[in-house]
Amino acid sequence: MLRTPLVIVNFKAYAEATGRRAVELAKILSSASRGTGVCVAVAPQAPDLREVAGVGLPVLAQHVDPLRPGAHTGWILPEALKEAGAVGSLVNHSEHPLKPEEIERCVGRLREVGLASVVCAAEPELCRRVASFRPDFVAVEPPELIGTGRAVSKVRPEVVSEAVRLVKEVDPSVRVLCGAGISTGEDVRKALELGAEGVLLASSVVKAKDWRAAAEDVIGGARRA
Ligand code: G3P
Repeated sequence: MLRTPLVIVNFKAYAEATGRRAVELAKILSSASRGTGVCVAVAPQAPDLREVAGVGLPVLAQHVDPLRPGAHTGWILPEALKEAGAVGSLVNHSEHPLKPEEIERCVGRLREVGLASVVCAAEPELCRRVASFRPDFVAVEPPELIGTGRAVSKVRPEVVSEAVRLVKEVDPSVRVLCGAGISTGEDVRKALELGAEGVLLASSVVKAKDWRAAAEDVIGGARRA
């Protein structure tokens, strides 16, 4: 379900992409991606997962808990994500950080239920460590650039290339994404040139005045020449 080049749009808890608006944005992303060869996935808030999954794009949860079914209250069960139509989950986003042992358990539980894992890590050394948990994707995201519009691929290119190098050393089958500040098609193109197989982005699309134009721009940057 998650192919590369991959563009993941994280809806975070932005009001612009909550509830009914989450579905509207997913529809625009779906139509903007059609025929481009770029896989576009979205990460809405948990209550919006099922309805957004109905749009037809691959849908990821923003967070999952490494639990088994049982008496747990207020947690997110991998099985529930699957049943809601998610294809996987982000893990350890810098806005929802986990301890390394929790990350490993999340990756394991997601794999058990047949869901993909996209593990975020703030810097290349942590990327190397989490790659040993055999997630499907590692996304390097320096937190200080998140939401700034200053793209990691442009202002810290060495972070992307180093993350790719270290992850591939551990396990060449783990795919590497990058995120933080990615705003334009050019930022995306640069990320792919550095060896990333896709990007994780949020504000440049979710908070854009013209969703369609913003979506077409970033998706265009991921198209193979
Ligand atoms: O999950 C994506 C993210 O943290 C990057 O956010 O707003 O810099 O694209 P943004």
